[in-house]
Amino acid sequence: MLYQSQKIAHWYFRIALLLFGLQVIMGLWLAFNYTFTVPQSIVDKFPFATARAMHTNLLVLWMLLGFMGGAYYIVPEETGTEIFSPKLAWIQLIVLVVTGVVALIGFIFGWTQGRPLLEIPRPLDIVVVIGALIFLFNVGMTMFKAKRWTAIQGNLLGGLTFLAILYLFGIPFYQNEVIDWYYWWWVIHLWVEGAWELVTASIIAFILLRLTGVERHVLEKWLYVELGLFLFTGITGTGHHYYWIGAPKYWLWFGGVFSALEPLPILLMVIDTLDHVKKRKTKIINPFTWTLLIGGAVFHFIGAGVWGFAHTFPQVNYYTHGSQVTVSHGHLAFFGAYALLNITVFYFAIPKLKGIDRYNPTLGTIGFWTTTSAMFLMGLTFGISGVVQSYIERVVGLGYMTAQDYLRTWMGVTFFLGLIFFAGVLIIIYDLFFIRPAEEEVL
Ligand code: HEM
Ligand code: HEM
Ligand SMILES: [Fe+2]
Repeated sequence: MLYQSQKIAHWYFRIALLLFGLQVIMGLWLAFNYTFTVPQSIVDKFPFATARAMHTNLLVLWMLLGFMGGAYYIVPEETGTEIFSPKLAWIQLIVLVVTGVVALIGFIFGWTQGRPLLEIPRPLDIVVVIGALIFLFNVGMTMFKAKRWTAIQGNLLGGLTFLAILYLFGIPFYQNEVIDWYYWWWVIHLWVEGAWELVTASIIAFILLRLTGVERHVLEKWLYVELGLFLFTGITGTGHHYYWIGAPKYWLWFGGVFSALEPLPILLMVIDTLDHVKKRKTKIINPFTWTLLIGGAVFHFIGAGVWGFAHTFPQVNYYTHGSQVTVSHGHLAFFGAYALLNITVFYFAIPKLKGIDRYNPTLGTIGFWTTTSAMFLMGLTFGISGVVQSYIERVVGLGYMTAQDYLRTWMGVTFFLGLIFFAGVLIIIYDLFFIRPAEEEVL
């Protein structure tokens, strides 16, 4: 750790990790509901929709806290100065966490806006916006005062600003459902396939620069190419969500053609990362960071690129839309792209924040392989459920509940795999909380 104010990032990371654990517990409950018949008295008090809102909103919250912590860690090193106001960073953390807790309790009492992933009611949205403004002000001022611009920090700030602006489109409620869903996708799609990708590319570039010693201009050249492609394919690709919401027909071919290009920048990112690894000039002190970085890049490509591509053409999506195929892709993409990215940042930064030079990677490695293998298999079991469901509902034309009977077994397997996944998550959380310097030379 070079700067005192980077310490704040540690609290962002710790809280993010705890919320990650809670998110997964909710996921287990959801899979349990698909597998077993839960007594009506429990369903009345704690319906599936409430648990689902908690599962997905916790996901958004912990990942955003991870990104913000990541930015507070990266920006001092890139600008060569302390954070503009560490106090504001604290206030922002408290504001966002309190809002999150109030929202979760509110969900239990039915206080929700109802739109998936953005269920937080409007008064709380305003508080989130205030938190985001404090964050952008703080990070922006640090950069402006330092007057040392790098492509990495510029893109990071750009991505984070884009992310915050998009959130605004999810706040109003439109009486016309088509318009409402139209803007909902501006948040959801343009977040994960636009703004978050920009943040990801900047963070990966930062870590690669620190680990490889490759010259900055070589890395930055790629960063520009990737970012340009991400923006182009990500923005036009929004069309793959307009097929069936009542938008004009031209979205069918427009969305299909352009979203099919989306895996390209993701693939470039994998090739680019591997290339930098090969060209590295420095000795790697904690090679486990590599495993995470490369694992993340590859899983990102599989979950978002391959699984996304598989159902992005309207001819396929007509059958799979809103089925467990979508859930399969949602899990693989979110985990591969953003959960692993956050975990990489945590393993890169937390030891340094604790002043640890070299740590023992055994627990981390077990956690990594347990979570990635279990999640990959869960992607397959959700996927099988989805194909069976699409066939029964959309080809044979039977009802939703009839299809559910055929899915039960696969949801049971998913629940079992989820338990293994959860064990891996607990190992990672424990390891990151109590990480200690390695006692002997670890290669
Ligand atoms: C890291 C990037 C990505 C993440 C995190 C992600 C996540 C998600 C999630 C959570 C959904 C479900 C939304 C809902 O209906 O509730 C979804 C839907 C979808 N995604 Fe992605 N996605 C990513 C990238 C991609 C890419 C690159 C493609 C195409 C090549 C793609 C194609 C689709 C399609 C077609 C749907 C709609 C499925 C349906 O009609 O039900 N996604 N994505
Ligand atoms: C033990 C682990 C987990 C289990 C058993 C689990 C299970 C589930 C279930 C059953 C649903 C509801 C699907 C539906 O509405 O039909 C769901 C939704 C979702 N989960 Fe998980 N989950 C787990 C972990 C995760 C993780 C780690 C992530 C992300 C990194 C994640 C992201 C999501 C997303 C994005 C949705 C919404 C999908 C959509 O709208 O299509 N889950 N999860
Ligand atoms: Fe999308």
